[in-house]
Amino acid sequence: MIKSRLSCLPENNNPAPLLRRIEAAHFGTDRVRRRDFLMDISFRLNGELVSLTDVDPTRSVLDFLREDKGLTGTKEGCNEGDCGACSALVGDAGGVRAQNTCLMMLGHLDGRALVTVEGLAAPDGTPHPVQQALVDHHGSQCGFCTPGFAVTLAAGHLSSDHDIKTLLGGNLCRCTGYAPILRAAEAAATETSPPHLKDALEAPRPDASKEAGPACPGAVDALATLYADHPEATLIGGATEVALDVNKALKDLPFPIFLGQVREFDKIEITEDKITFGAGASIETLRRIMAGHHPGFAEMLTRFGSAQVRAAGTIGGNVANGSPIAETPPPLIALGAELHLRHRDARRNLPLEQYYVAYGQQDRRDGEFIEAVSIPRQKDRLRSYKIARRFDQDICTVLGAFNIHVNVGKVLSARIAFGGMAGVVKRAEAVERALIGRPWTRETVAAALDAFETDFAPISDLRAGADYRREVARNLLLRYWHEDQGTPVAVMGVTP
Ligand SMILES: Cc1cc2nc3c(=O)[nH]c(=O)nc-3n(C[C@H](O)[C@H](O)[C@H](O)COP(=O)(O)OP(=O)(O)OC[C@H]3O[C@@H](n4cnc5c(N)ncnc54)[C@H](O)[C@@H]3O)c2cc1C
Ligand code: FES
Ligand code: FES
Repeated sequence: MIKSRLSCLPENNNPAPLLRRIEAAHFGTDRVRRRDFLMDISFRLNGELVSLTDVDPTRSVLDFLREDKGLTGTKEGCNEGDCGACSALVGDAGGVRAQNTCLMMLGHLDGRALVTVEGLAAPDGTPHPVQQALVDHHGSQCGFCTPGFAVTLAAGHLSSDHDIKTLLGGNLCRCTGYAPILRAAEAAATETSPPHLKDALEAPRPDASKEAGPACPGAVDALATLYADHPEATLIGGATEVALDVNKALKDLPFPIFLGQVREFDKIEITEDKITFGAGASIETLRRIMAGHHPGFAEMLTRFGSAQVRAAGTIGGNVANGSPIAETPPPLIALGAELHLRHRDARRNLPLEQYYVAYGQQDRRDGEFIEAVSIPRQKDRLRSYKIARRFDQDICTVLGAFNIHVNVGKVLSARIAFGGMAGVVKRAEAVERALIGRPWTRETVAAALDAFETDFAPISDLRAGADYRREVARNLLLRYWHEDQGTPVAVMGVTP
């Protein structure tokens, strides 16, 4: 019935917001938005200051742009972070990046600057160099994806990021083909970025020390009190998971607490002993820092979601909710990471592997949250192998992380952790035992392979069968050994 009603929509009219309203009416209740936790926010939009009062902070920025502002250049393709058509530029004290506005909530915008595709061209109408290059190199056919490409390319252009294929991993085009788009990106790379864009991306409140309201604490002490008093609240980091609850499952988040302005959450501390990430560190920040310490971890993270998802998603959000295929926990566990948890004024530290109790069950009491994650400093022996059905923009089927230290030809220590092999991310302790103290040879590795049977009883699901998962896990240990012997093992690294 809902679909037949939609068939009367004019062409090019976006049906998704209407569909949500019809569904709400159909079920007799507004499941989409309960306006009992409203917020005042101010931000810069395409250079202009915007102040809004009493807004639902969980409303999607994409809906706001299209429905309230008429900025329909920002497209809704998938509404779940997979296509990049809704990309916009975000500026704040942390810099400038492209994000998916379908995954951003109005609460995220407070104190930030946003530039949509409508704001890319200069005030006199001169197109941005990437827009001109897309025209010159025939980088557009139907045009639906083009605003998203232009915005993502403009983000790369501003930050002199010339790794275009990685940058565009989260932008889908269904008709042009990618070659003209890549040619356009290369052509625009040498052009200077228009000055108006830098001004438009200046955040109106770069010093985020001002509390923005109860839904947006500015300090960790305020968060600790608020969450302990309201354990029913939903903590919102980058919302790259939570937004799907709103957009797709049509859930209410009646008590949202945005973590983006908790100033301690941005801190990264590197001492002689450890590297500590505040829970709000983005996956992109984690990737950049790991590049200097554990490059194998950083390399794996270039395949985490897309540039837009890595810019928004946080380490706290990835670790917290206990998905068996979350991709930072296996390498973090292999490195011996510790969680720093807090409930009101009580703090405790926990080895990350102990946090994952069982599927859907974590060692975290009501009102307790993750403050930080730390990794002990060590010699780099970490490799992290992501096996997924696609190279870009697909979560792992199996992810194995290996951290095996060898001394005079013998295995001194081994920490191995897998995602996708059990109901939780889990260490391969029997495999580790089969290696430690033995010569670091292919024979030792081959003899250890059967121990995977003791460690894991994987399930079959839509991503892969149990037998496939078992075989992959065994092969990844062999891969680690071969890579350690200097053999090229990565698919992209093997050349004839
Ligand atoms: C298109 C797309 C691609 C993705 N690709 C990948 C991928 O390749 N690999 C992967 O692992 N994940 C992937 N994800 C999932 C998601 O991006 C990550 O899990 C991300 O790190 C979540 O961080 P966030 O800040 O966005 O979490 P949010 O959505 O804000 O929160 C997630 C959960 O954690 C809780 N939470 C957040 N911060 C804290 C805290 N400090 N303390 C306690 N609880 C907290 C929230 O309440 C919520 O339950 C993808 C998601 C999308 C939409
Ligand atoms: S609409 Fe597809 S990523 Fe947002
Ligand atoms: S130009 Fe048609 S989808 Fe990209």
